[in-house]
Amino acid sequence: MNINSVDICFGLGWGDEGKGKISAYLSKKNKYDFVCRWAGGNNAGHTIYVNDNKYVTNLIPSGIFYGIKSIIGPDCVVNIDHFLSEIKYLQSNGFNINLVKISPKAHIISDKHIKEDIKKYKNKLGTTAKGIAPCYRDKYGRTGKRVIDYYEELKAFIWDEKLYGNILCEGAQGFWLDINYGNYPYITSSNTLPYSACSLGFPTHFINNIYGAIKIYDTRVGNDPDFPESLLKDEDLLKLGELGQEYGSTTGRKRIVNWLNIDKLIKAINISGTNFLIISKIDIIKKLDVYKFYYNDKLMKFRNYNEFELNINHILKKNCELLKHIYLSDNPHNIHLSSK
Ligand code: IMP
Ligand code: MG
Repeated sequence: MNINSVDICFGLGWGDEGKGKISAYLSKKNKYDFVCRWAGGNNAGHTIYVNDNKYVTNLIPSGIFYGIKSIIGPDCVVNIDHFLSEIKYLQSNGFNINLVKISPKAHIISDKHIKEDIKKYKNKLGTTAKGIAPCYRDKYGRTGKRVIDYYEELKAFIWDEKLYGNILCEGAQGFWLDINYGNYPYITSSNTLPYSACSLGFPTHFINNIYGAIKIYDTRVGNDPDFPESLLKDEDLLKLGELGQEYGSTTGRKRIVNWLNIDKLIKAINISGTNFLIISKIDIIKKLDVYKFYYNDKLMKFRNYNEFELNINHILKKNCELLKHIYLSDNPHNIHLSSK
């Protein structure tokens, strides 16, 4: 069977943009044969609600929740203990773990990688301390160990076959954490943009829709000079963080909040080729009832929500040629995209 069509869902910010909710919606709505992760490891955290129950996974793609084959691709990095504990967690919750497959080419995160991350990177860069940077360093230094080298432990999950049919690729982290596009070295060590989903093994011309996720305000977990400590003195931003429960789903760390940077968002949409934009947490900013964003490097303030939304729509449509749909989400559990 050949490949029919590929959709990609990814983050336009610094992670934590509500990708899990979008993947879940797409997995329910479309007849995908595969849901695939193309990069990163258990530094990510995807929160999914199934029948009002909350599930969090770090590595295994969300297809598992909807009975779809879930692939961990060759450019991912795998912590075996963590992977097996996630399998146990899914199994004990009644999900079919036989759907989970890993590429034999994915690299293994060792205890040594984790120790090095804790010692050298955790404090300096605010990493998730999961061994990501040292693992990718060894991969590119060509001294890494791969899933295929740990055959016995992962035998039941290894899968080296061709993708076919309809595919959803699920991004991890976000555009501004990408190794090429982010604020180096305050980034992660993998490629987070849609182009890199092709590492899963499909030709670029099968890509159909690119769903970009962002929140109505920016958040950052981990060190980054673009999110200075002075932001913690802004009462409104602090309140937004509390109302939006902005704590990392993987590390529990408090996220620094800033007003949405539309200049950055425009760049991320245009470089990635996003045609569906999903802006989340509209309910949260409405609770605060303060409406600001950065545009042309200036902080702009609006009198009410309608004015704010009108301006966002207008600016994005004017500046983003490929963008076809903007969806504003005011619900943490689900979305409903209508394609015209
Ligand atoms: P690492 O990926 O653990 O090396 O962390 C590098 C940077 O990316 C740090 O600033 C982390 O906080 C950030 N980061 C990594 N994964 C995620 C994520 O899934 N969501 C948000 N930030 C992340
Ligand atoms: Mg996440």
